[in-house]
Amino acid sequence: MSAAITRVGVVGGGRMGAGIAEVCARAGLDTIVCEADRAAADRARERVAVSLERAVQRGKLDRLSAEDALGRLTFTGSLDDLADRRLVVEAVVEDAAAKTEVFTALDKIVEDPEAILATNTSAIPVMRLGMATQRADRVLGLHFFNPVPVLPLVEVVTSLHTSAETLTAAEEFATTVLGKTVVRSRDRAGFVVNALLIPYLLSAIRMAESGFATAADVDAGMELGCAHPMGPLKLADLIGLDTVASIAASLYDEFKEPLYAPPPLLLRMVEAGLLGRKAGRGFHTYD
Ligand code: CAA
Repeated sequence: MSAAITRVGVVGGGRMGAGIAEVCARAGLDTIVCEADRAAADRARERVAVSLERAVQRGKLDRLSAEDALGRLTFTGSLDDLADRRLVVEAVVEDAAAKTEVFTALDKIVEDPEAILATNTSAIPVMRLGMATQRADRVLGLHFFNPVPVLPLVEVVTSLHTSAETLTAAEEFATTVLGKTVVRSRDRAGFVVNALLIPYLLSAIRMAESGFATAADVDAGMELGCAHPMGPLKLADLIGLDTVASIAASLYDEFKEPLYAPPPLLLRMVEAGLLGRKAGRGFHTYD
């Protein structure tokens, strides 16, 4: 069935959405990225163009293929342009109301009743998004990792309503078409990776918050002592502290366990706009 998925839509052109669109276009797919308006759509295009250029500079992609990939991408400010898509991946802000609104709209816009509507959510129940549509059997989670062009994993998350055909088609798409490796998860907040990763990041934030160790030393500890490519506070900055806080809130809401509770320092940094790499400052500063 995945052979039929040649027209893909991505809703949201931030770091995750742009990355998902990039890997789809690099896989030869006609890809439309939908943002809130024209200006945001232009910024999304720039994000993909910069990443493709980086891939060329790093010798991962030849220039012609990068140009071809960019040529397969269309950037729009209107969800209506996704009407003929066979698969749409939603990658807007990690907020249940915002995502629900997108699914309600997509259900009306995407014409093919067999089309798959996927979410890149990290922690919001897939079921909740499926129930915002009339086709919960065609809704599932396709959760990518940042940076999407580099990290090979996709978590595939089925709700109680997701059909076996949808799961098979989505897995084939992620593996055969995109070349990713899949792990399956049931529909619990955090799925596999974030249920393990977020408590670790929150512990690192609590360590910095209590003055137990500096941010630089917390990161150096895990990079040099455990061979992690980046320490937990750098990683939180990469993910975005607003996103880390939202995922933690969803996990806490689901399990009511203190290890998932966002520490006050994280919440204050989000309120201060110190969101990490995308804001130029989080636990570290960036150019
Ligand atoms: N396309 C293709 N390849 C690219 C690329 C692009 N746009 N940009 C970089 N690369 C490649 C590079 O060529 C390089 O490959 P080699 O090692 O084979 O040479 C590799 O990616 C690393 O790139 P860089 O050398 O430029 O950068 P780096 O060594 O500083 O690594 C990093 C940067 C990839 C971000 C690395 O630090 C890393 O993997 N960090 C951990 C990231 C992580 O854990 N992400 C998960 C976050 S959780 C999440 O996303 C889910 C959620 O729900 C919150």
